[in-house]
This record gives sequence, structure tokens and C-alpha cells, in this order.
Amino acid sequence: MKTEPANSRNPQLKGEYDLYRWLAGANGIPNVHYLGVHHGCNTLVMDLLGKSLEDLFQARGQRFSLKTVLMLADQLVARLEHVHNKDYLHRDIKSENFMVGHGSRNDIVYIIDFGLSKKYVDSRKRHMAYREGRDLIGTPRFVSINTHLGKEQSRRDDMEALGHMMLYFLRGSLPWQGLPAPTVKEKYAKIRDKKINTSLQELCHGFPIEFATYMKYVRALRFEERPDYAYLRNMFRSALERHGFQYDYVFDWVTGPGRRVSRTSRASKASRSRGRRAPSSSRAQRTPSRARPRSGGRRQNGGRR
Ligand SMILES: Nc1ncnc2c1ncn2[C@@H]1O[C@H](COP(=O)(O)OP(=O)(O)O)[C@@H](O)[C@H]1O
Ligand SMILES: [Mg+2]
Repeated sequence: MKTEPANSRNPQLKGEYDLYRWLAGANGIPNVHYLGVHHGCNTLVMDLLGKSLEDLFQARGQRFSLKTVLMLADQLVARLEHVHNKDYLHRDIKSENFMVGHGSRNDIVYIIDFGLSKKYVDSRKRHMAYREGRDLIGTPRFVSINTHLGKEQSRRDDMEALGHMMLYFLRGSLPWQGLPAPTVKEKYAKIRDKKINTSLQELCHGFPIEFATYMKYVRALRFEERPDYAYLRNMFRSALERHGFQYDYVFDWVTGPGRRVSRTSRASKASRSRGRRAPSSSRAQRTPSRARPRSGGRRQNGGRR
């Protein structure tokens, strides 16, 4: 349930409710059930979700495994693809605004919080105009460099913020976190300068080349350009395979039997050698009823079920 005072000067919930309805029906979009006024508050009722990626990240000591981030990448890019295909930018990409499903659905990543979203094409699918001098909208830690520079946001900026978030998960923090500054304005300027001055090589050091490729690709997109979501997802999937991981939906926070059981011991061995958890073959043997053949369809759909 999300509420705001009914007499709020800047009411958002109706717009958010409408947007959830507009986006409904795809994977990782929570269903909304009700919008009304209760005790002087606009009240939005939606599916109860599990924890946010930020909660899970904190609970794991501020680090996600490579396998988890590579599997996450597939769903995260798919979520943005859906929102963008439905004519909207999210504009507040951050770890608090992605949540996993409740209970056993904790291997599905949901995108939430459309309070800052904006339609970027008109009814005839014409892209909005390029502008400069915009205020920073979003979360400074994650926003794109162009957003810092006051450029109107477009699809590329959601994608870049997503890249920053994935690197945050892998690295544990971003180089522009915790910079001291006397005022908010100076702090934002320091974050901007550090983002500009941190090379992708430095930012992505120690992680598969695909993360640097992703960042380079999204930062080079033109204002109106459609990101090639399929290319990016395929790239992360190949990285997953190359590192010997199974795409089995066993994220760092998933305990108990995984949804799909590894058919070979390759993933387990590879993960063990990196000191990370993988679906063990003993677990597979204990829970044969959970065993399911790998299906290509699911992989294509970023967590569809
Ligand atoms: N459907 C939900 N189920 C459970 N918790 C939720 C749900 N939606 C939001 N939350 C929690 O509430 C927080 C704030 O919700 P959000 O929609 O992001 O509002 P805000 O605009 O205040 O950031 C989220 O980060 C999450 O922790
Ligand atoms: Mg939020």
C-alpha cells in the first residue's frame, strides 16, 4: 500500500496507478488493485513484493556474486525494454526501486516506483525534443553523466543508470560515493566530475569485459536511439555461460531448492572455485521433483512464467 495526503500539492499516486495499469501484464510489473481515498490519504493497493535489491545487497554485506549480477542483468534489461516499449522512461533507476517477488517468487525482479517517470514519445511515436539545462532528476549515485550535465533524459540514461547499479552490486560501492562537500550542489558537482573522470577500465576492473562493453555502448547511444536490448541480454548470457554458470535462477538470496537443477557439475565446480554458492548436485538429488529440463523459452523472456 502506498499513500500520500489527498490534498497534496503535487499528487503522484493517480499517475503512478495509471502507469502500473498501462504496464501491466508483463513479467516483473506488480499488479495494482485499487486507488482511492482513505483517512484523508490517496491510497494505492498493489501486490505485496519481497525485498528490494538494496535490502538484499545490504543483507549480503554489500556485494553480489558475479553469477547473481549476470542473471540479474538479463531481467533488469528486460524490464527497461518493456517500460521503454510502452513509451515511458523510468528516470529513477536505483537499487531501492527493484524488488524481488514475495516468498518463492524471489527469483523474479520487479520494477517499481514510477513517481519520476516520463513519456518520451507522443501518441504518434515521435520522440520528444532534445533539451539542455534540465534539473537533475533521479538519484545522483546512479544517474548518467548526461543527466548530470543537464541534458534531457532518454532511453540511454535509464540504461546507463542501470549499468552503474550493476557495477555497484559487483564492486560493493561506486568511486563517487561518500565524497565530502559542504553543500548539496557542490556534492553533485563532485559526483559528476568523478563519474566523468573515472575511466571505464577503472570502473569495471576485475569484472568480465561485458560490463565495460555495456557501459561503452550505452554511453555512446544517441539521444533518440533505441538501445539494442536483445544484444545486451545475449551478451550477458554468453558471459554467464563462459564463466561456467547455469542460468538456474539461484540468486545469492535464494535459499532452498533452486527452480532449475543443474544438469552438469560444471557450474557448481566453477562457482566453488570462486567461493560462491551454486545449486549443488546433492541438492538436485534430494529434490528430484523440482528437476526441470532447461527450456529455451524462459531464457528468452527474462523470467517469464
Ligand atoms: N509492492 C510492494 N511491496 C512491498 N514493499 C514495497 C512495495 N512497493 C514499495 N515497497 C517498499 O517501499 C519503498 C518505497 O516505495 P516506492 O514506490 O519506491 O516509493 P517512493 O516514491 O517513496 O520511493 C520501496 O523501496 C520498497 O522498499
Ligand atoms: Mg522508490
